[in-house]
Amino acid sequence: MEKLVVTGKTHLKGEVIISGAKNAAVAILPATLLVDGICVVENLPNISDVKIYCKILEELGAKIEWIGPNAIKIDTRFISCTSAPLDMTSKFRASYYLIGSLLSRCHHAQVGMPGGCKLGARPIDQHIKGFERLGATVEISSGKITAHADTLVGTSIYMDIVSVGATINIMLASVLAKGTTIIENAAKEPHIVDVANFLNTMGADIRGAGTDVIKINGVDRLPGNANYSVVPDQIEAGTFMLAAVASRGDLIIKNCITKHLEPVTAKIVEMGAFVEDLGGDSLHVWCNKRPTKVNIKTLPYPGFPTDLQPQMGVILSTAEGTSIINESIWESRFQYTEELNKMGAHITAQGKSAFFEGVESLSSSPVYATDLRAGAALIIAGIIAEGSTEIYNLEHIDRGYENIEEKFRKLGAKIERVEDTSC
Ligand code: UD1
Repeated sequence: MEKLVVTGKTHLKGEVIISGAKNAAVAILPATLLVDGICVVENLPNISDVKIYCKILEELGAKIEWIGPNAIKIDTRFISCTSAPLDMTSKFRASYYLIGSLLSRCHHAQVGMPGGCKLGARPIDQHIKGFERLGATVEISSGKITAHADTLVGTSIYMDIVSVGATINIMLASVLAKGTTIIENAAKEPHIVDVANFLNTMGADIRGAGTDVIKINGVDRLPGNANYSVVPDQIEAGTFMLAAVASRGDLIIKNCITKHLEPVTAKIVEMGAFVEDLGGDSLHVWCNKRPTKVNIKTLPYPGFPTDLQPQMGVILSTAEGTSIINESIWESRFQYTEELNKMGAHITAQGKSAFFEGVESLSSSPVYATDLRAGAALIIAGIIAEGSTEIYNLEHIDRGYENIEEKFRKLGAKIERVEDTSC
């Protein structure tokens, strides 16, 4: 087992280049199953979720060639199987996109119940509702979801809950359906637009992605034969922005879409730190004094993203005054607060709210990444704490951040991955 050892009190300084978005990549990879041709996907983050997805696609009959460290050429013309390997699909949440993709392309899908970060109940009723509205039958038994449709027919689908995954999955299922599908109360996250752009580049007809009404005119086939580059990762960019503030550092964040980061920028400025748009695709973020308290409520895009809540929590642990975070998406997203309390933070989490009584500084402790974003938050906590912090459960972090230690190290962080010999 490996652990990270982070030796603190570092003010981060320098430039960081943001990778392709994890949450877009894990939707675009299954979306390639809809393509009856060859396509090239570039700017793929080199993370374990992407590697597992590529293996699953190969098991289904896709031919994948890595043509660079972050680019694949994928040929999905000869898909031979509609059952995804259960042991692999249970490892991460985004395996649910295989249902929409296989249903669309092959009219049949069998996928293990999706795994992923334990953030509380993660129902998929809205996905199922969408598939059934399109004419599919869906059955869940023995830890598997089986979906079947002789024909998928476009219709109007109203989402009872704003769900990123269900919006994308219904989009995938309806691209090759007969007629027009309208998704109302759709989620608007940047990666939804990215998946729609990918599908349109391959030959689909999707309009309105990024708004709450998405219209999909079914087409007979996606011929592919095109290149697509994955959008920069909004959450990775936000993680480094918040790391700059937490460490009272000075960072240039390159290869980001500044518009996607407005909810984070607004809160950083409210705390008394600075964000300068350098034009193009770069942001300058710096902080030269103790941040002041702010209150946060996580919301679907364009609200403050739940996936940046733990990283923000690190700043609020050491900010001046008492801040409140209200988490409205995931019921168990405050598990990281117990780890920060081991490092001297004063946080009380009660149901959907957590109260952060800011302390002067954090101190080192062995801590456990309880999920992916909690892991990133603990790295930031280690960077600003006194002493050497040991972080365990790195598999969570490796799922979603490309070269995270190397990127932080280039900014001056003292961070090493070492074999844990104590177990
Ligand atoms: C995606 C992201 C995840 C992020 C989340 C919210 C991916 C792979 N993961 O997860 O990182 O934290 O968006 O921005 O993109 N819900 C239902 N029924 C459903 C679907 C969802 O009740 O059928 C609820 C969930 O329990 C949650 C809320 O809706 O409370 C939002 O979930 P959703 O947007 O679907 O999250 P994911 O797509 O799983």
